Amino acid sequence: MAVLTLDRPDALNALDRATLLALEARIGELAGDASVRALVLTGAGRAFAAGADIEEMSGLTAEQAEAFSRLGHRTLLALEALEIPSIAAVNGFALGGGCELACACDWIYASEKARFGQPEVNLGILPGFGGTSRLARRVGIAWARELILTGEPIRAEQAERIGLVNRVFAPDALLDAALRAGETIAAKGPLAVARAKRVLQEGQDADPHVAHVLEQNAFGLVFASEDRAEGMAAFLEKRDPKFRGR
Ligand code: COA
Repeated sequence: MAVLTLDRPDALNALDRATLLALEARIGELAGDASVRALVLTGAGRAFAAGADIEEMSGLTAEQAEAFSRLGHRTLLALEALEIPSIAAVNGFALGGGCELACACDWIYASEKARFGQPEVNLGILPGFGGTSRLARRVGIAWARELILTGEPIRAEQAERIGLVNRVFAPDALLDAALRAGETIAAKGPLAVARAKRVLQEGQDADPHVAHVLEQNAFGLVFASEDRAEGMAAFLEKRDPKFRGR
């Protein structure tokens, strides 16, 4: 299990270039580490992340802004494409790029203190790290429109109601809950988990017929694994399985 903590609390963990590059590097390391079976992403202090760094962005040319957006997209895409599942434990503000980052995780658990929003229009800009697509996919186009076009934040309970957040916890119970979910995943067959995650993701982008075929192929593929034989044998022998990831 890996825990990544955004750690610029004085700037409410605003995502500047350096933070995004560090995040991208850590995600790259995790992608190559077969011993890690789940990832929890959270923030230090009173924010998850209060957006892209406005101070840094204020000096960007249009060309530099496009490159910054590309960096954000690349980083979040790498997170989304990780084979291991990721859970965002949103402890406080998840605004702008912070909300977009949480949406690149497989699901979101939130503290009662969390606030979600896409306030970019207050600055005369729009979401630049995938918000228009990932948020719309998660909560539906109408809620994405309301959040992005008004820029107004919502509380954790409302985020739960619209499906942005899976569950809401008391602030001091949040991290434990996310870690427990990660541990639950880590105890399962890693190949099956990775395949299921990929088919869920790729199936969304495909037409239904192709999505069904992707699932059938993945279903067949895991049958060739030792873990499948072990999982079924353990059930029939009434014991816990010992998965090896092969
Ligand atoms: N970029 C850079 N710095 C940020 C930041 C951001 N996105 N969000 C917060 N900060 C900094 C503040 O400038 C402040 O720094 P300072 O202490 O050096 O003045 C520090 O974090 C604390 O923020 P502050 O605004 O004083 O806290 P608050 O409790 O009054 O308000 C927020 C919290 C989240 C409502 C407010 O900080 C905010 O609106 N942030 C910007 C959110 C946003 O527009 N994000 C999208 C960016 S595209």
